[in-house]
Amino acid sequence: MLINLHDYEAAAEARMEPGAWAYYSSGVGDEVTLRANREAFARIRIRPRMLVDVSTCDLHTTVQGIPVTMPILIAPTAAHCLAHPEGECATALAAGEAGTLMTASTSATRSLEEIATAATGPFWYQLYVDHPLEDLTDRSFSESLVRRAEAAGYRAIVVTVDAPRFGVKEREERAQFEMPEGLSMANYPGDLETEPASLTWNDIAWLRSLTSLPIILKGILTAEDAVLAVEHGVDGIIVSNHGGRQLDCVPASIEALPEVVAAVNGRCEVYMDGGIRRGTDVLMALALGARAVLIGRPVLWGLAVDGADGVRRVLHLLRDELEQAMALSGCSTLASVGAALVKLP
Ligand SMILES: Cc1cc2nc3c(=O)[nH]c(=O)nc-3n(C[C@H](O)[C@H](O)[C@H](O)COP(=O)(O)O)c2cc1C
Repeated sequence: MLINLHDYEAAAEARMEPGAWAYYSSGVGDEVTLRANREAFARIRIRPRMLVDVSTCDLHTTVQGIPVTMPILIAPTAAHCLAHPEGECATALAAGEAGTLMTASTSATRSLEEIATAATGPFWYQLYVDHPLEDLTDRSFSESLVRRAEAAGYRAIVVTVDAPRFGVKEREERAQFEMPEGLSMANYPGDLETEPASLTWNDIAWLRSLTSLPIILKGILTAEDAVLAVEHGVDGIIVSNHGGRQLDCVPASIEALPEVVAAVNGRCEVYMDGGIRRGTDVLMALALGARAVLIGRPVLWGLAVDGADGVRRVLHLLRDELEQAMALSGCSTLASVGAALVKLP
């Protein structure tokens, strides 16, 4: 029986090829941060309020001015076709049907235009800034991706800033995972060889000059960087450690969230991802100042189990758990979910 996100994890593992499973599930190094993303939630306690009318709980909100029916969004993850042949197109369909928003990865196995066509709701584009192997300074391919995203109707550019190079995931290495024949990074022309660019704050100014879409930085973990982000005019920050896949031993996202929220002080929207598996996790993140959360792996599990239907079910399960947690903690609106609702360790 699949009645929570953990059940979807087990069912996805049973269905997927071991190499692809290792790719989805692993973290870097000793996976300290990967575990911390979950364990940190278990140390926070909720301080519920009683005798509040919670006969209806309203989960609607907006992100960058875009209405969504719940504060739960889809994080960018690569290679959805490893989970299901329809890949990112199925995810985009399910996101809209569940009343929320999908972030499509630069490393998608369907092109950003195909995803936009399949989408039934709003969508954001996650940008990895790459350069050709032979020219560190050539940003023209990334510029073309931004132009394509604008033309295809993406509503924000999510720049991932925690990946100037990619983390080494040893479980994936041991499983000798390789992209199966026929699957490719669909946004890249076949003959283009690139590597990640080592971005600096100057590049954020460059991006700002390139597009009028909202710019959201993904992968901020400190108050210092949050202040710089605001100073560089970004519209949003995703507190994230890339699901424990970049630098090991950094804080759990939920641990880093309070200092970022305090430093931003309302000057842009703050979101978080990493380890969200329960409605109570979402509630804690909202209480600590996140406007919304994003989920990564659970979407891939839903996709592996049942394509678009599985993704929709995962989103509905989490939504229903959040609604239940709000009701039992005396919150009938998202506005009433405040810092007093949680007790930190
Ligand atoms: C298999 C996999 C692929 C990912 N690919 C990307 C990516 O292409 N771009 C990106 O910014 N983040 C990527 N991430 C990180 C997610 O956006 C997100 O930060 C993370 O998955 C959240 O943690 P969770 O999986 O515990 O929900 C990936 C994560 C996983 C598990």
